[in-house]
Amino acid sequence: MSKQEEKISQLIEKRAECRLGGGEKAIEKQHQRGKYTARERIAMLLDEGSFEELDMFVTHRCTNFGQDKKHILGDGVVTGFGTIDGRLVYVFAQDFTVFGGSLSETMSQKICKVMDMAMKMGAPVIGLNDSGGARIQEGINALAGYSEIFQRNIMASGVVPQISAIMGPCAGGAVYSPALTDFTIMTKGLSYMFLTGPSVVKTVTGEDVSQEDLGGASVHSTKSGVTHFVAETEEECIALIRKIISYIPQNNMEETPLVSCTDPIDRLEDKLNDIIPDSPKRSYDMYDVISAIVDNGEFLEVQPDYARNIIIGFARFNGQSVGIVANQPKVLAGVLDSNASRKGARFVRFCDAFNIPLVTLVDVPGFLPGTGQEYNGVILHGAKLLYAYGEATVPKVTVTLRKSYGGSHIVMSCKQLRGDMNYAWPSAEIAVMGAEGAVGVLYAKEAKNHENPAAFKKEKEEEYSELFANPYQAAKYGYIDDVIEPRNTRFRVIKALNMLATKKLTNPAKKHGNIPL
Ligand code: HXC
Repeated sequence: MSKQEEKISQLIEKRAECRLGGGEKAIEKQHQRGKYTARERIAMLLDEGSFEELDMFVTHRCTNFGQDKKHILGDGVVTGFGTIDGRLVYVFAQDFTVFGGSLSETMSQKICKVMDMAMKMGAPVIGLNDSGGARIQEGINALAGYSEIFQRNIMASGVVPQISAIMGPCAGGAVYSPALTDFTIMTKGLSYMFLTGPSVVKTVTGEDVSQEDLGGASVHSTKSGVTHFVAETEEECIALIRKIISYIPQNNMEETPLVSCTDPIDRLEDKLNDIIPDSPKRSYDMYDVISAIVDNGEFLEVQPDYARNIIIGFARFNGQSVGIVANQPKVLAGVLDSNASRKGARFVRFCDAFNIPLVTLVDVPGFLPGTGQEYNGVILHGAKLLYAYGEATVPKVTVTLRKSYGGSHIVMSCKQLRGDMNYAWPSAEIAVMGAEGAVGVLYAKEAKNHENPAAFKKEKEEEYSELFANPYQAAKYGYIDDVIEPRNTRFRVIKALNMLATKKLTNPAKKHGNIPL
């Protein structure tokens, strides 16, 4: 063997050693836990053969607690770049087989390197998290490492898309990196996120709670809203990441690539002409409207199980990616509350940051009244949604299907919030409040003194409805650009988006606004 051959075979050996991470036993243990390894996950995520790994030969520099005798090539994270459907992405996957994927100083440097490259090249960053948190032996250096990552998460926010998959433990301050990114996906049964684990909870508050009940996927998808998606399996989690990427651009200076559209753009949906029930108290399913109007009925819903009174997600019109925000009359009559407002606001801001037009479908009776909401700060949360729509400069197309009352009318992308195209169905009711509430205020005294208060109120409600419960009052003032036939909605939205394709609008220069957080 020549010297050169020897060197090359040494390289091949080192690479093979690195690819084994924590070793065969640790890999077996990882599989027994029902989890894939970091490299297996990356192989599933990226286009075949596209992965270029970086920093395979990095090892930690810690000497405490006998760490100087334990070095594993690559340390606890696999990093690099590759493609998804031919588009460049940067990726880091924590390797649980190496020191439990715990974060060392050098691991942080590896992660920061790909984040910096993503910013320079303008491409998404995908993090696959599976880690025991800060590497205890490294003390403050591990904390500094986290801080370096968080700072980059913040700088990258709104510049390149950031996606976090939680595929194992994610505890302590480590949760803040996913929380700072745009989308978080948890894998059912395998992942959990919490600031303090069950044992600390027990010590501090006396509460007995399991990992799953404290920070499992079901908790964060229904109660806290921390996660945007839940996957049944790791394969599904990876497929979801690829799907999200297909709907979003590479960075804030680019548009999402157009997809060829096979669904006729002038497809009429007769069933939409009958979807609104005659009684204002009856509901219908907004999902039926969304699937009827978007390309091929395909909708990638975000946070489907959290604040279900509002629906958010990605779809396409004539191959153009859009963000859909829609009230759901089937849940709490589509009312806006604190959680729905926060959910909607964050999504609107993501779409605006990444040049994704907004299509808003309105059927909202108002904000949920009561002490529960007021004490919870619904004023501030509602203001977030208002702020998000008002600052958004992307094309905004709004269709009012039925109710659009009071403050909630304004918040849901009304004309004065720089709505570009505001359509209404003939069933729209755009007014300060519903007939019952309005008559209750306007005719309280008369009703009380009337010989038949019920009949009197009914008569006045009918009078009010006749005058206000329609789209024409708003259309008369140009607040509604056109009243459209429901079955035509797809075609009209597509025409509006086409017209808006060259929209240019900028907000005043400022350091940043002060969104009511
Ligand atoms: C160093 C760690 C580690 C850590 C796990 N390991 N976590 N090493 N630092 N934080 C090591 C284990 O010692 C073990 O090494 C290997 O990883 C696998 O871990 P196991 O415990 O065998 O696995 P499992 O039973 O599945 O339990 C996983 C776990 C548990 C629940 C994550 O390891 C655990 O509780 N770890 C500590 C979690 C923690 O408290 N982290 C610090 C949080 S504070 P061997 O050699 O035996 O294979 C924090 C602050 C961040 O992160 C602040 C940021 C701002």
